[in-house]
Amino acid sequence: MRRVHVLIPVAGAALIGVVAWSFCGVSNSSANEPKSAADPALQRTRKAVRMLDDLYKTAVVLITKHYINEDTDLSAGAAAKALFAEMHKKGWHEVQLLDVTGTPYNAKNVADDPFERKAVAALKSGKDYFDDVETAEGKRYLRAATPVPVVLKKCILCHENYRQAAKGEAIGALSYRILIE
Ligand code: HEC
Repeated sequence: MRRVHVLIPVAGAALIGVVAWSFCGVSNSSANEPKSAADPALQRTRKAVRMLDDLYKTAVVLITKHYINEDTDLSAGAAAKALFAEMHKKGWHEVQLLDVTGTPYNAKNVADDPFERKAVAALKSGKDYFDDVETAEGKRYLRAATPVPVVLKKCILCHENYRQAAKGEAIGALSYRILIE
């Protein structure tokens, strides 16, 4: 019966995680977005980004909630970056975890191309989604960015600067690059 005892809290926590992060999910209403009505491949790719964004953010919240107790523990952010690197290596999409506060934990986690700089400015101004389509070697890629707010007090354990963040304010971002096919 041990399994039941484990499953119930995990399912409950998963629900809390989904609810906690759902407000920062992807919307389709930003003015910057390329038109997708007559572009089913673009619509499918945007939907895939929405799904990935929910998946990654829910995982980060659950890991932080259940496994992080001290500032020396391996952070969910670092674990997520390792996961993103594996996904990229295996030929799937690319994802970057970015700071938007100006005081990153890791100085490498900052916007480093024109799309990301525009996306960070948009998310900081309160947008809950930003995307664009770029073409490389005859293929189209969706670049998309979503905000990361401070959803748990525990985040402050390692990010002292998040103490000043307003409720729901973006302190970070996930930046996606995914093939449109
Ligand atoms: C145990 C310490 C710890 C906790 C708790 C923690 N983080 Fe982090 N966070 C880190 C570390 C370390 C990095 C840098 C990881 C890397 O680049 O390898 C990081 C990176 C980040 C980044 C990328 C930008 C930057 O500052 O480098 C964001 C955004 C972020 N964390 C958000 C969060 C949020 C939101 C929470 C709460 C859900 C959280 N973190 C909880 C340690 C922590």
